[in-house]
Amino acid sequence: MKILVTGGLGFIGSHTVVELQNEGFDVVIIDNCSNASEDVLDGITAITGEKPEFEKFDLRDKTKVLDFFSRHKDIDGVIHFAASKAVGESVEKPLLYYENNLSTLVYLLQQLSQKGKSHFIFSSSCTVYGQADEMPITENAPVKPAESPYGNTKQIGEEIIRDSCKVTPELQAISLRYFNPMGAHPSAKIGELPLGVPQNLVPFITQTGIGLREQLSVFGDDYPTEDGTCIRDYIHVVDLAKAHVVALKRLLESKNEKNYEVFNVGTGTGSSVLEVIKSFERVSGVKLNYKIVDRRPGDVISAYADTSRANRTLGWKAESTLDDAMRSAWLWEKKIRA
Ligand code: UD1
Repeated sequence: MKILVTGGLGFIGSHTVVELQNEGFDVVIIDNCSNASEDVLDGITAITGEKPEFEKFDLRDKTKVLDFFSRHKDIDGVIHFAASKAVGESVEKPLLYYENNLSTLVYLLQQLSQKGKSHFIFSSSCTVYGQADEMPITENAPVKPAESPYGNTKQIGEEIIRDSCKVTPELQAISLRYFNPMGAHPSAKIGELPLGVPQNLVPFITQTGIGLREQLSVFGDDYPTEDGTCIRDYIHVVDLAKAHVVALKRLLESKNEKNYEVFNVGTGTGSSVLEVIKSFERVSGVKLNYKIVDRRPGDVISAYADTSRANRTLGWKAESTLDDAMRSAWLWEKKIRA
């Protein structure tokens, strides 16, 4: 079976390609390499022993999307990662985010809707919940007005898929709402490669640990949480990648109850920023240089998942602990700076 993975050279995409190949799927990747390197193909190949097909182009080019599908009539499913994901940048460049994240989704769905039976997995985010009223967050928690254009593209993206599925029963889709992915493949052959200064906590921690950054700023310690820092649900990227494979199989084996479903993908455990720092210090043996600074505008206090729907329906559960994920992130950081 052949699966198209858009953004398959990116952080979550590349780990998912590995898990798909491990399960015997043939993979074709489309990536424009705007935030990823072609070298990732070698990392994937070194892990699985199989080089995935790769086409380098931008999905905003509708003609190229049409051409791709006319040449690949044997695609059995699509996992759509390709998107821009920097919250701050999305505030500066909203139209770029709406174009990148929504036009590409529309072009793909147009092709799939014409195809007859088709299977589609969408990268969504827990950001759709904003500051949820209750923890842990279930999929029934209301979607709150988005804090950023990035968050809005995830909300609108889900709506586009829901509306498309309503009128096209042959289109079978699942949105996975990721909590906070982190870590790297345990082989340290693929991992997270943020361009420039990392915006996310874990790569900032490992880059500070290795000496590339002087100091981590902890954004606020006066939140109403036990230690005053924000709580998130950090999930090992390999666990997250495996969730895509089981969701895809659910669609391919027609086990899905409705033709559009939504699942939280997290561990179910919340960790504070200070706990994440402690985990880093524990697994690396390195004392982290950090200081408490003002809150970062737009941060929610707490977000962790109720994963019972995914556990029950997909038969999937995150297996790694925060320390496991941190160990892999640190191994990767040491390898790429060696
Ligand atoms: C948010 C979204 C997530 C989205 C991601 C895109 C929520 C709950 N999460 O992640 O869905 O996919 O943006 O980037 O809306 N921190 C520091 N210092 C740093 C960096 C981060 O203290 O240098 C803290 C933040 O304040 C936060 C935590 O670490 O409490 C995690 O931050 P980050 O890794 O940026 O992810 P989210 O903001 O949770």
